[in-house]
Amino acid sequence: MVDVGSHILFIAGIVDNDILFKNEKPLTYAYYHEIKKGLAPKNAPTYIDEAKFKSTDNKTQSTLQKYKCLACGYIYDPEVGDPENNIPPGTAFDDLPDDWTCPTCGSPKEMFEPI
Ligand SMILES: [Fe+2]
Repeated sequence: MVDVGSHILFIAGIVDNDILFKNEKPLTYAYYHEIKKGLAPKNAPTYIDEAKFKSTDNKTQSTLQKYKCLACGYIYDPEVGDPENNIPPGTAFDDLPDDWTCPTCGSPKEMFEPI
């Protein structure tokens, strides 16, 4: 637990997990972005104007494959990118830096599989 002035930051590591509701969609960060449309406010440094990054090349977009984290279920969607880690929309999974990790659980790229 770290007091960063404006709020308290809790730092934790996953020590165990289990799927409680196997027929339900997990509450992942991807769910927050996709379903709840959770985006950074326009005045936040992590805000990305998606209209700026929309590609007009439909051929490129259709070849962008989604990948799922086998540890936590996070889905990397190239059309969304990973704004919190400065990965802009339109970045293919293969083009992510080798040291990129799952934004939800920290697993390496090797823990992802195409979906
Ligand atoms: Fe993960």
